[in-house]
Amino acid sequence: MKYEKILHEAAELIKMSQYAVAFTGAGISAASGIPTFRGKGGIWKTIDPNYFNIHFFEKKPFITWKIIKQAFYDKITEAKPNMAHYILSVMEQKGFIKSVITQNIDHLHQDAGSDNVIELHGTYKRLVCTKCGMEYDYRFADLNYLPPTCFVCRGVLKPDFIFFNEDLPKKTIENATAEINKADLLLVIGTRAEVFPANTFINLARDNEVKIIEINIDKTALTHYHTSLFIKNEAENTMEKLCRILTCKD
Ligand code: APR
Repeated sequence: MKYEKILHEAAELIKMSQYAVAFTGAGISAASGIPTFRGKGGIWKTIDPNYFNIHFFEKKPFITWKIIKQAFYDKITEAKPNMAHYILSVMEQKGFIKSVITQNIDHLHQDAGSDNVIELHGTYKRLVCTKCGMEYDYRFADLNYLPPTCFVCRGVLKPDFIFFNEDLPKKTIENATAEINKADLLLVIGTRAEVFPANTFINLARDNEVKIIEINIDKTALTHYHTSLFIKNEAENTMEKLCRILTCKD
């Protein structure tokens, strides 16, 4: 089916939906200069993900913090939202989508103006004391002295994002489940949807027979089995074109 035709079909599905939810991954932030995790130039191509296992961090926080600083804080803090983030925020304001469930920790959806954002994997913006639970804005810590420690109890501070082998917070699971159970349309943007338990929310949407529009530069495991409409293109280009068709571009 020609690209233009697919876009118009996607716009129709969005216009007809009562409760559309966006589900995003690293691909939506690629145009903001943040590397994805897998595929060409992916973070896990150069960094061993085992450093991001919560048990490794608990034993050797200095080593993990050094890698976290290079892989995330040195890149993410200056990143700006791109057109895809802004369009999702406009679509929320216009009522075309009701919420964004994101796997990203870069806060770019909120920076672009999205209100109802569920951060499945947390955020780089907050640090939490591993001993007393005290929370800090990440700018509290001088990341030239690692690992950062708690002002109150001197415990090691951890970025408030999910490490491998770390459970998602109960409230996050409840909120994301509630959104999926209300959805009649899911826009899956820029994710391989390979990572558990994040991908269970897409499975729940499929079990609820929710239509899935997938926007990705490559096909994924979803495409063949779950996707109702696959748009093979960059998120930043597709979202801009979709927005023009939905006449939601001010
Ligand atoms: N537009 C749309 N899709 C894109 C773009 C783009 N400009 N650039 C890349 N992609 C797609 C890739 O084709 C790939 O399918 O984005 C996806 C990125 O996949 P991953 O790197 O695996 O990222 P993601 O699916 O978000 O990973 C989920 O894994 O390591 C954990 O916690 C980490 O949140 C992350 C989770």
